[in-house]
Amino acid sequence: MQHLFTPYKLKSLELKNRVVMPPMCQYSVEKKDGIATDWHFVHYVSRAVGGAGLVIIEMTDVEPDGRITDNDLGLWSDEQIPALARIINACHQYGAKVAIQIGHAGRKAQDAAQPVAPSPIPFDEHSKTPKELTKEEIAGIVEKFGLAVRRAVQAGVDTVELHGAHGYLIHEFQSRYTNKRTDEYGQDLALFGKEVIAAAKKEMPENMPLIMRISAREYVEGGYGIEESSAFSREYKKAGVDLFHVSAGGEGHIAAAGRPGTHAAYQVPLARKIKEALDVPVIAVGRLDDPILANAVIGNEEADLVAIGRGMLRNPYWTLEAGVALRKDAGVPVQYDRGFPGK
Ligand SMILES: Cc1cc2nc3c(=O)[nH]c(=O)nc-3n(C[C@H](O)[C@H](O)[C@H](O)COP(=O)(O)O)c2cc1C
Repeated sequence: MQHLFTPYKLKSLELKNRVVMPPMCQYSVEKKDGIATDWHFVHYVSRAVGGAGLVIIEMTDVEPDGRITDNDLGLWSDEQIPALARIINACHQYGAKVAIQIGHAGRKAQDAAQPVAPSPIPFDEHSKTPKELTKEEIAGIVEKFGLAVRRAVQAGVDTVELHGAHGYLIHEFQSRYTNKRTDEYGQDLALFGKEVIAAAKKEMPENMPLIMRISAREYVEGGYGIEESSAFSREYKKAGVDLFHVSAGGEGHIAAAGRPGTHAAYQVPLARKIKEALDVPVIAVGRLDDPILANAVIGNEEADLVAIGRGMLRNPYWTLEAGVALRKDAGVPVQYDRGFPGK
């Protein structure tokens, strides 16, 4: 029977446990240059010291105007590689594997003079109206995704996560709510995502798994549900995605129609459905901070990995403390032995 501390292997990715730090934007780039700072170094490396099996670096964007804010990380230039490589090397030294989430904010690029999107529909009344991308511009962004993935591989990542969730560009294409196009990108809502997947795979070593984060359901009136997300995820799987990181929402104001649960494990049923429908490994995320609950999600085979977001913002040593709670060996660093007498 598997538990939170059972090692996990997928292609070339070998994790010492099932605990993932999900991507969480820090909005902490100081000079608008997209380069990781000391904050990022301390932030990620302390979660590696804290025992996480996989650390996923926050949404890192493929072009300057593809960022949510100008304080976000980027990988549109080789100059952005060394600071990330330093973080990744240090995380490796402390036993964690590292992914980076590659994305484009699309119409949710707040600081862009002119945000872009599949269709010219603003996020809300306070947002700029995005420019509808031409087919040439779409091809250019797909290429930039590929180049960003190439740089991530050069920086030393163990796997790559594409950001297909939360109302950012890939999600905008895969949703009828934001994609009103009549060309092939409107006829096949998954086309842009599949092109990005192909561009990413081309830059990744053969045996390196590709993760995709999806919003498995939308919360706006008339938004897509689990049937539609299972269908497009099936296409993404065929295109080369090895592991789905199952989140939800982000396409509009959540109060508009139905609210996501604020209770524990609120997105686990979505992860389980994608896992069962596609026979594919999944990461479950969303209020799994209680180690007994996170462990149950693994033990009950609802997901292969669990991600702990806000719980790890509160406590970088979440994984080590989960080891104490579950009486499993979480690999407490020898320097911290005396802090974990019950380990
Ligand atoms: C400060 C913060 C920043 C976030 N940034 C990202 C991000 O860059 N990419 C992403 O896919 N999700 C992002 N998220 C969502 C988290 O990855 C996670 O899905 C969410 O917090 C729910 O998990 P939790 O209940 O364990 O916190 C962010 C969440 C927080 C709290």
